[in-house]
Amino acid sequence: MVRSKIVGLGHHVPERVVTNDDLSKLMDTNNQWIIERTGIQERRFFDPEKDTLANMAAKASRMAIERSGLETKDIDFIVFATITPDYFFPGSGVLLQRELGLEGIGALDIRNACSGFIYALSVADQFIKTGMYKNILVIGGEIQSTALDLTTRGRNTAVIFGDGCGAAVLQPTEEDNGVLSTHLHADGRYAEELYVKDPGSSRPHAERQADQILDTSGYKVHMNGNVVFKHAVVNFSAVIQEALEANQMTKEDIDLLVPHQANLRISKYLQEKLGLPDEKVFNNIMRFGNTTAGSIPIALSEAWAEGKLQPGKIICLAAFGSGFTWASALIKW
Ligand code: UT7
Repeated sequence: MVRSKIVGLGHHVPERVVTNDDLSKLMDTNNQWIIERTGIQERRFFDPEKDTLANMAAKASRMAIERSGLETKDIDFIVFATITPDYFFPGSGVLLQRELGLEGIGALDIRNACSGFIYALSVADQFIKTGMYKNILVIGGEIQSTALDLTTRGRNTAVIFGDGCGAAVLQPTEEDNGVLSTHLHADGRYAEELYVKDPGSSRPHAERQADQILDTSGYKVHMNGNVVFKHAVVNFSAVIQEALEANQMTKEDIDLLVPHQANLRISKYLQEKLGLPDEKVFNNIMRFGNTTAGSIPIALSEAWAEGKLQPGKIICLAAFGSGFTWASALIKW
């Protein structure tokens, strides 16, 4: 039986550190509120003079490829999860492909927000299992900072999000390891609970023409935090349970839970519900905030560097976010 296996991980976050105190100079917020409600101490914002999403993704990808022992030319397909592409179109996959000098190979974009990396992993997993591709680069990354309303009006989202990218290389394996299963869900009834409306296509002509726009609020992140939070805790739990049941496992089998870094309170809730000790839940939201599709691969890359992803370990990935979408994956390392 052929499965797919992650053979290399990498990440890149911008150099610029933005602390809670930095944000409190721009809006009515404070370090204590942000830490108590989210666990975030600092996040990274990119430098438009230096970086693009594509070149940050290329740095993460090169690290993942090097750690896999492959060469860049071995990559035969790209799946890129992001909701903040450098251009409205084309997507980020082709821009990353150009950065890596991989002209000609296929590149696919996934727009499933916080669940984007697990959706991308699932898509790549299917391509590997069918034998269509052998070395797939899967990336999750975002530049959120420039969509945030950095005033008091936008404080419920401005303090949460950050920029960064993570990457994984997937290969086939016939050993008893790899991606055991993935589980994908969505409920579009809640699309407007967490969204950026513009530049949307279904707008009168004058509202889509940059030189005629009067109301620019649609370009900023809108989130109904309480509604998102309540659905997150329920669906995160359900989709983890679904992954365990699909593999005849129980919560005791999880060696490391790597949740999407949405809010430290959500991770703590999951940890308590599953009865996991601190060392079995990976959190880095304190340092990077919520990097949407970037958060799971950045966390995986750090977990790998810390030696937490050892052969035979059962790793559970889970995510929830805009859409709503939610997803999980169970991996035997
Ligand atoms: O990754 C995608 C999925 N996203 C999520 O999972 C995010 C889910 N939601 C959350 O994480 C939380 O809802 C937030 C962190 C966004 C907000 O935390 P909360 O505990 O739900 O706070 P709240 O929205 O109920 O607001 C409580 C109070 C309000 O003031 P009043 O009405 O009680 O006077 C807010 O106006 O806190 C106020 N507030 C702030 N105060 C200081 C909201 N944002 C801030 C802020 N600084 N940044």
